[in-house]
Amino acid sequence: MPEGTPNVLEVRNLRTVFRTRAGSFHAVNDVSFTLKAGEILGVVGESGSGKSVLAMSLLGLLPSPPAEVSGGPVLFEGQDLLRLDPEALRSMRGGRIGFVVQDRMTALNPVLTLGFQIVEPLRLHLGLTRRQARARAAELMAQVGIPDAHRRLDDYPHQVSGDLRQRVLFAIALACDPTVLIADEPTAALDVTIQAEIHDLMQELRQTLGIAVLWITQDPGVVAGLADRVIVMHGGQVVEHAPVDALFADPRHPYTQALLASVPKARVERVRRLAVMEGQPPVLRTPPDVCTFRDRCPHAYDVCHRLNPQRYPVGEGHDAACFLSDPGLAPQRPQLEVVDG
Ligand SMILES: Nc1ncnc2c1ncn2[C@@H]1O[C@H](COP(=O)(O)OP(=O)(O)O)[C@@H](O)[C@H]1O
Ligand code: SF4
Ligand SMILES: [Mg+2]
Repeated sequence: MPEGTPNVLEVRNLRTVFRTRAGSFHAVNDVSFTLKAGEILGVVGESGSGKSVLAMSLLGLLPSPPAEVSGGPVLFEGQDLLRLDPEALRSMRGGRIGFVVQDRMTALNPVLTLGFQIVEPLRLHLGLTRRQARARAAELMAQVGIPDAHRRLDDYPHQVSGDLRQRVLFAIALACDPTVLIADEPTAALDVTIQAEIHDLMQELRQTLGIAVLWITQDPGVVAGLADRVIVMHGGQVVEHAPVDALFADPRHPYTQALLASVPKARVERVRRLAVMEGQPPVLRTPPDVCTFRDRCPHAYDVCHRLNPQRYPVGEGHDAACFLSDPGLAPQRPQLEVVDG
């Protein structure tokens, strides 16, 4: 992104905890990031790292109780989303902020036609007449690569392929010309060729519509081919943040290094290979006060078991939450073994 590109979304110190009968679960811990106009920001991390809870917290979609969302502000178009009343937030969602949810099987209503499901938000948010909304719906379907859009309007979800249903979800999310699109693992269940087509479509839409995208995925290969910048999540925290090229060329956090280990070097290689990493993401019953990766980290040393690292700058727009990147601790660190390849 060119220098000086404005932020469209600014998230500061966001925290989400679930208070349940079984105890507290700290799913999002002090997360801060920005999304710039027209950029694609990848959010990557293995299952259970807090990606979906983060997205739902931003959009006010978590039931409270059990969820408690705090911190902030979450600034969008000059307003703090955490402090908007529910009605204003509802109109923001599906309006200025489009959302493609993770669970695409339940995301479309099986008893309503595809056309109706696109037309509804257009009528609701933009006040279009039925005829205007149908025309716009057909236009949107064509825009997301659905051939023969006019005829498809009257199909039901079960009559079309998974690929097409996914494209309809994009059409719905884009219906009201949003500034920001949040997409939670939208292509995870699709085959590799279709995935690649949808990623190309996304690049095209961001260019033609100038939309900014938060693209959530478990697959580092996806962010490699799609994102401009990336945040890596572990234990509900941002453990590394970097421009995509810097992340792949010089990952600094041991978790990122493990996550990227099985991804081919070529930036746009289309083969989907998920990193296989030993161990489980942590379940946090209290806010993290030591490094949450310490039990799986090959470099852990004494301080990692006593304190939680902050995000240390390591390069231009690049930071890592690891004591190995803390210049102040350099003399105390054990010498790292350098392994080739
Ligand atoms: N309703 C809930 N009650 C308690 N814990 C939850 C709830 N929803 C999510 N979590 C916890 O939050 C953590 C992050 O979940 P999630 O954001 O879905 O991960 P991801 O999307 O990265 O796979 C997990 O440890 C999960 O168990
Ligand atoms: S802070 Fe310590 S345990 Fe955590 S990732 Fe860095 S070296 Fe590993
Ligand atoms: Mg998820």
